[in-house]
Amino acid sequence: SGERTKEVNYSSPDRGTRVQVFGRVHRERKQAQVLFVTLCDGGGYLQCVLTGQLTKTFDALTLTRESSIMLKGEMWEVPLNAHASDNRELHVDYFEVIGKAPGGDDAITYKVQAKGDPQTLLDQRHLVLRGETAAAVMFVQDAVEHAFNVKYHELGYVKVSPPALVQTQVEGGSTLFDVPYYAEKAYLTQSSQLYLETAIPFAGNVYCIEKSFRAEKSLTRRHLSEYTHIEAELDFITFDDLLNHLEDMICSVLSITLSIPRIAAKIQDLNKDFQMPERPFTPMRYSEAIDWLREHGIGKEEGEPYTFGDNIAEAAERKLTDIIDRPIFLTHFPHEIKSFYMPKEKADPRVTESMDCLMPSVGEIMGGSMRIDNYEELMDAYKRHEMPPEPYYWYTDQRRYGTSPYGGYGFGLERFLAWLCKQHSVRDTCLYPRYMGRCRP
Ligand code: 4AD
Ligand code: MG
Repeated sequence: SGERTKEVNYSSPDRGTRVQVFGRVHRERKQAQVLFVTLCDGGGYLQCVLTGQLTKTFDALTLTRESSIMLKGEMWEVPLNAHASDNRELHVDYFEVIGKAPGGDDAITYKVQAKGDPQTLLDQRHLVLRGETAAAVMFVQDAVEHAFNVKYHELGYVKVSPPALVQTQVEGGSTLFDVPYYAEKAYLTQSSQLYLETAIPFAGNVYCIEKSFRAEKSLTRRHLSEYTHIEAELDFITFDDLLNHLEDMICSVLSITLSIPRIAAKIQDLNKDFQMPERPFTPMRYSEAIDWLREHGIGKEEGEPYTFGDNIAEAAERKLTDIIDRPIFLTHFPHEIKSFYMPKEKADPRVTESMDCLMPSVGEIMGGSMRIDNYEELMDAYKRHEMPPEPYYWYTDQRRYGTSPYGGYGFGLERFLAWLCKQHSVRDTCLYPRYMGRCRP
């Protein structure tokens, strides 16, 4: 159990250490003369054993799940078993209830019973989070975010914090959230990319971990209205450098995450089949993916076969990743279906120097590209995308004041976790999901 376990008084050499612990009743099981309490203190779960008179007190007889309690007793080393998950067991000789949780119809077990209705679980998300699966995902989320920070700092990247309130779009106007901003109009940012790019000249390679916002009209298992976006920009690179960096980044983040035994155990519980991805990741050009879909008879939603220029739908993309069943770098998307800032490939100007990383069962978890580094080309891109250049003057200045070949990318943390923790939906990999129709709790 965690930091709140205090060693007190004395050590008994034959049995164990005398301790006082605080936490909440995660589970209780009553046997003839014994009451087992699984205590959760945030640091983990601790099996506590109450015997004799202690099991007959009013507090013991009316003990409810999620009540907060204090216990004193001796900590024993025990063989690993399903209830004592860390070889320890507390033999209790004193306990107090601090905050009693309701029982009966209001008991937490009834509150979080879905009865086949996922909306109930979402309404009770604050209680669902006390469950082992939801909590494990949150622990992994913390570890993955930490691993990104560790790896970026190892590489000498500087972390900055771009604004969430902006007056420009990044990924198309259709998913912008408007916000009244004093007498002006503003949006919640779709991506920190453009601002991150402006940090390159003073900071070199840069990254940020911020929220991005998308007014997605689609209710899918991988779209949120607010998500955690891990973005980076790399200066003076080529497209191949970017791909190599990304593969290394993903594998390093996974190794750092798995090097924490407690987290590795949680990933193992959540995702029994998890294996480190094999390198190199499978490279596949967009045009090859279109051929692959045609060969496998996977068509568009309306049933027609895919042709060059089509956006590959989520379902088709998932079939591709599930059948190939390993990480894929899907590259060189046509410029018509991609963002304004993506440069054309020299060899085939129909396509851009862009890439998505696709993972089995989830599909796209990351999107990136080189950035147009030429002033005229950028002005053309604004025109093609019907974007008035004025609000972007600060972005355009990047091309005027010492331009350079560079590129970057963004990971959706919730999607990364859906893959790593084998969760069906990104709604299960964030603390409180936001999507069309849900903004509570
Ligand atoms: O592919 P996207 O839209 O690319 C960008 O935003 C670039 N500006 C990033 C960059 O180059 N700095 O989004 C990047 C990633 C996606 O691959 C996906 O993982 C995640 O962000 N993402 C979402 N995650 C959850 N809900 C949504 N609605 C998401 N939209 C994108
Ligand atoms: Mg994308």
